[in-house]
Amino acid sequence: MAAVTRTPLIAGNWKMNLDHQQAIALVQKLDWALKDAKHENGSVEVALFPPFTDLRSVQTLIAADKISFALGAQDLSVHDSGAYTGEISGQFLAKLDCRYVIIGHSERRQYHDETDAVVAAKTKAALRHGLVPVICVGETAEDLEKHGASAVPVAQLEAALEGVAPGADIVVAYEPVWAIGSGQAATPEQAQQVCAPLRAVVADKLGADAAAATRVLYGGSVGASNIAGFMREPDVDGALVGGASLKVDDFAAIIRFQKHIGV
Ligand code: 13P
Repeated sequence: MAAVTRTPLIAGNWKMNLDHQQAIALVQKLDWALKDAKHENGSVEVALFPPFTDLRSVQTLIAADKISFALGAQDLSVHDSGAYTGEISGQFLAKLDCRYVIIGHSERRQYHDETDAVVAAKTKAALRHGLVPVICVGETAEDLEKHGASAVPVAQLEAALEGVAPGADIVVAYEPVWAIGSGQAATPEQAQQVCAPLRAVVADKLGADAAAATRVLYGGSVGASNIAGFMREPDVDGALVGGASLKVDDFAAIIRFQKHIGV
């Protein structure tokens, strides 16, 4: 198998923060901060995941100002259209130039009872509409104690990829639940120890080439001060950032990790 260079992906999951006007302000400031720093676009892919109600505004701004950020949504419906009040179809997201959609975030699993079966159905819905699913997996503190770090995320990813066609374009995000929003990130070594088996699941389910091309991200209390450590690990290809993605200077510094990675 030929060696594949994976473009690092730095993704900002805004969760339920920022209305559409605040979203525009943040995207403009982030763009200016990166331009001021003479950041080289293309060395890193940046993706933003605003709330649904911000997507149209952010899409318009990105297109008008030729900003090189990719757009993603935080969730989608398993259905394509119909009598599903409150749901958002992947079709609508594709029409708004979304490239990505987050699937199975632990907050959806926890607060909306999303099961592995729902996550698998949403993964297929995303692919059906040409969206790249960012499939989130991760263990709770209790899982960690009982089963170790990788068993639960591996099982969750196996379930999410059930029936997905070989070669599918996906992103995997390893987000230990105990690390999210806690200020207590996993160590780079801990992240690597789970991201490597997750890549093996992709190889098993989607084939070796897909596994070599798939970005596996780490998420959970990523900030400007710890991103470089994660990015040095061979199986960590980027980060899914929550809180720090709402702070322009912090997120710009995370995007510019290559400047402080020391390699
Ligand atoms: P924090 O970066 O705030 O810990 O959130 C991580 C996360 O859940 C991203 O999806």
